[in-house]
Amino acid sequence: MDLNKVTVRVPGTSANCGPGFDCLGLAATIYNDLELTLLEEKTLSIEAHGDGAETIPTDEKNIVWKAARMVLDRSGNGEKFKGAILKMNNNIPMSRGLGSSAAAIVAGLTAANEIVGKPFPKKEILKFATEIEGHPDNVAPAIYGGFTISTVDRGRVQTFSFLPKIRLKLIVAVPDFPLSTRIARQVLPKSVSMKDAVFNIGRASMLVAALMQGKEKFLETAFDDALHQPYRTKLVPGMQEVFQAAKKAGALGVCLSGAGPCLIAFSETKKQIENNIAVEMVQAFKKNEVQAAALILDLDTRGAYIV
Ligand code: HSE
Repeated sequence: MDLNKVTVRVPGTSANCGPGFDCLGLAATIYNDLELTLLEEKTLSIEAHGDGAETIPTDEKNIVWKAARMVLDRSGNGEKFKGAILKMNNNIPMSRGLGSSAAAIVAGLTAANEIVGKPFPKKEILKFATEIEGHPDNVAPAIYGGFTISTVDRGRVQTFSFLPKIRLKLIVAVPDFPLSTRIARQVLPKSVSMKDAVFNIGRASMLVAALMQGKEKFLETAFDDALHQPYRTKLVPGMQEVFQAAKKAGALGVCLSGAGPCLIAFSETKKQIENNIAVEMVQAFKKNEVQAAALILDLDTRGAYIV
């Protein structure tokens, strides 16, 4: 057994959950695997398979390796381990709003932390991951699983993770085009009105309460948002039509997944309803000349773990 080698599995995530811009997130049952071997010699070998593998940097710029290096440096192991072999198997669609970059960061941090004897608890891994990603709403559920509520106060990140009382299916329509978070943030206003702020506070609070108490009928309203989705509609052709189609097919609530372009519908766990929603969302995208595939997922309840 190689003591300097470990495999970690990290779930995909969906940030914002409608009104919880930069604060709410959830983990879904779609995973990226990373096998990390730390080396004393300064050589780096990076092999990627799966979604977007051809676009992943295979040098020092690789985000997984950068994250691993952060743990090595901050734990005083930077001189001991100068190189690595990384083998990745990626299922999370890249640049689609399902947390592929958060998964990469959490994978690198978690794997390196394990090899050097776990000097950092999850809370510290969350802090490092937020430092790299810039906001905690994807990295938190990737680490903890379930739904997460996160706050950042002068660099101090706090996350509350919970499992809803309702068993939900997540139906994700994945368009065939990527959207960079940077561009999706550029379209947002610098400030918002009190009216819109109040709109979102009410919905985000209601969403958490409805999920925790199992009150399905509040979800349709609770997933609404006035802070980011209206501005991002123009970046995802057919967004409103896809939302309408999903609701008509029985979705309990709908929202943009992270910064998009994936759209996510929440439904009760009934095969026929789930499948109908998936078909209708893909069709509605097609009517807007967007090719999309559908994923029917569950909530991941575990977060990143060592395989
Ligand atoms: N909260 C972020 C945004 C998620 O909506 O821009 C993207 O990673």
